[in-house]
Amino acid sequence: MAFLAQIPVSLWALLLPAQGLLLKLAAGKAVAQASPTLWYLTRAMAVSSYVALTLSVLLGTLRAIARKASERLSWVVDELHQFIATLAGVLIVGHLLTLLLDPFLPFSLLNLLLPLDEPYRPTAVVIGVFSFYGMALLLLTSWLRRRLRYSWWRAIHYLSFVTFALVTAHGWLAGSDSGEPWMRAIYAGAASAIAFLILVRFFVGAPSAAQVQPR
Ligand code: HEM
Repeated sequence: MAFLAQIPVSLWALLLPAQGLLLKLAAGKAVAQASPTLWYLTRAMAVSSYVALTLSVLLGTLRAIARKASERLSWVVDELHQFIATLAGVLIVGHLLTLLLDPFLPFSLLNLLLPLDEPYRPTAVVIGVFSFYGMALLLLTSWLRRRLRYSWWRAIHYLSFVTFALVTAHGWLAGSDSGEPWMRAIYAGAASAIAFLILVRFFVGAPSAAQVQPR
């Protein structure tokens, strides 16, 4: 290292801007790694997806109730039901992508796709993986609805209630916002609104054979 002492001071001065840049880059990386942005994004997308899923299940149940009661609902309800369900799916992909990119959480792609060896709150996350399967199946069969037998599609579509219950359990157990009053209000509001519409649907009566024909 003695040769370093041979370098004139003026040359060291020339290197100063480069040193500053290197220091800034190193600090930037440290900030990026310590930044909680991805963590906030993961949670924001999870909660938005939960709200979208709830709205979609509510609109779908409303549609089923109207059908049972032989009432006609505007086509807007149908369109909104499908659009909001797709939005919930897109937001969930965001929830998973941000989890994958977050340097604080050691989630691998396999951890997200399979309910094995979860590195964080394993029981809650395994429930999340199963609810992800439920959402994927519901969206896929809805997009392919015209190609499926109506009775199959309908049977699979009942999974939406199970998926909603799984997602609620997952969010409640895994989420760091579960203790917050606003998040509790979202869970309570969503669960009671859906339970209420299921009850209404139950009491409206069974559909006649003509009513269960695909449109
Ligand atoms: C492979 C599937 C999934 C994995 C690995 C996963 C993972 C996680 C993790 C690690 C958390 C904790 C975040 C925190 O501390 O706040 C979380 C929270 C949450 N997740 Fe998931 N999740 C999955 C699927 C889903 C699905 C399908 C939904 C449906 C909407 C969902 C909704 C939520 C909600 C609402 C929270 C609570 C967020 C909060 O309290 O701020 N997750 N998830």
